[in-house]
Amino acid sequence: MNVLFVASECVPFSKTGGLADVIGSLPSSIAKQHNVDIRIMLPLYGSIPDHFKKEMKLKDVIVVSVSWRRQYCGIFELHYNGLTYYFIDNEYYFKRDDLYGYYDDAERFTFFSHAVLAALPVLSYQPDIIHCHDWQTALIPTYLKTTYAGDLFYKEVQTVFTIHNLKYQGIFSPDVFQELLHFSDEHYAGLEFNGAINFMKGAIVHSHLVTTVSKSYANEIQTEYYGEGLQYLLQDRGESLIGIVNGIDYNDYNPATDERIPHNYQHSELEKVKNKIALQEMVGLPVREDVPLFAVITRLVEQKGLPLIQHVMDELAGKDIQFILLGTGDAEFEHFFKEMGYRYPEKVSVHITFQESLARTIYAASDFFLMPSRFEPCGIGQLLALRYETVPIVRETGGLQDTVHSYNKYDQTGNGFTFANYNAHDMLYTIERALAIYREKEHWNALLNNIYQTNFSWDHSAKRYSDMYKQLSYIKRSGVHLV
Ligand code: GLC
Repeated sequence: MNVLFVASECVPFSKTGGLADVIGSLPSSIAKQHNVDIRIMLPLYGSIPDHFKKEMKLKDVIVVSVSWRRQYCGIFELHYNGLTYYFIDNEYYFKRDDLYGYYDDAERFTFFSHAVLAALPVLSYQPDIIHCHDWQTALIPTYLKTTYAGDLFYKEVQTVFTIHNLKYQGIFSPDVFQELLHFSDEHYAGLEFNGAINFMKGAIVHSHLVTTVSKSYANEIQTEYYGEGLQYLLQDRGESLIGIVNGIDYNDYNPATDERIPHNYQHSELEKVKNKIALQEMVGLPVREDVPLFAVITRLVEQKGLPLIQHVMDELAGKDIQFILLGTGDAEFEHFFKEMGYRYPEKVSVHITFQESLARTIYAASDFFLMPSRFEPCGIGQLLALRYETVPIVRETGGLQDTVHSYNKYDQTGNGFTFANYNAHDMLYTIERALAIYREKEHWNALLNNIYQTNFSWDHSAKRYSDMYKQLSYIKRSGVHLV
């Protein structure tokens, strides 16, 4: 079975968020365990490290039309970590400082999506399934039902579309339909939503299967609160909408061997605490191993529940705790947390940056990881926290709800602390509950033991993806049409 992953970011080549972690780790888990040939196609951004670029081989050069323009498209190949990657090259579109956020993003990713489909025949590589991720690649299923509908090369190809975050749909002016896409008018309805062109809507309508990154989020997005306007469409596709929770790479993120943390440890609070001391020294917090250390590592955006933390920050700082935050994002949050760092230098340490080794050290050093998201398709921070034996405190939504279960004193089950309402004092109350357990050794140890037994490596979910691919190809062979 051949599966092509198409995405706009992938560790270690490019990253703005969790999507890159998934594309960087899921394919090899599926390929290794389930005998699926997975290749990955990505944009060749200017920011990809040179040592990778030097190893890439130019396979071919083609011309791809985007509106009236005929654009150069180089197709590069790289073998890395046992997998084949293809990179779509066009400096005009991809040699920029950032990955997204440009006036012509619609055109950039229309080019990319079209280029992917133009490149495959040239590479003589015919996947059974094209698996697209997020709005940047969402036009591919639509292209296959329009421009490429009569193309024999693509006749048997099935499509899967994964929603990593429904908030970002690729919504553009209706002019895009005429000016960029050149589909015939009958296809307007498949892409139009509320008078705009919506790339993600096209993928939800045209893909054979739609998946998202947790079971709870798959249910939530069919409701008005989480559906971002697309809830009715997602309900219509409910039978073909599957939630598969993300995992993390358990070899890369392993506290027993991670070279980027000060002290390695495994299932040992005694060893882990050495990291707390190292971090306190590093960032200038009072060195005290008995003080509970709370961590927040995130993109600083509203989705992540930062307004709840803002609301009770003074109350939090009034407790005997330490608080460390790492991340970049919206100016409002950057300023607020910096200010908190100045106001409470003995308690609060704020790092408006992203640095992988500092992030890992914080996961290793902290007692609690706070992630009160308003919504969370899956969330990776809480999985990393669990892997580094740090207790997650999360809101019960999306993937957070599927991966963290509240500690219960009576039967000593649970691997963290959770609260249901998006309310700052519910969160604060949950933090207080967590602090009480921290002081009760018997329960604290039981909780840590439950965390040691939690496993969110890719194994389980990789099997679910490979089963899904097999099912799709079985359906294809037996001639049943899903769409
Ligand atoms: C997005 C979501 C996050 C998810 C990630 C990877 O960043 O916001 O919840 O974990 O994609 O699927």
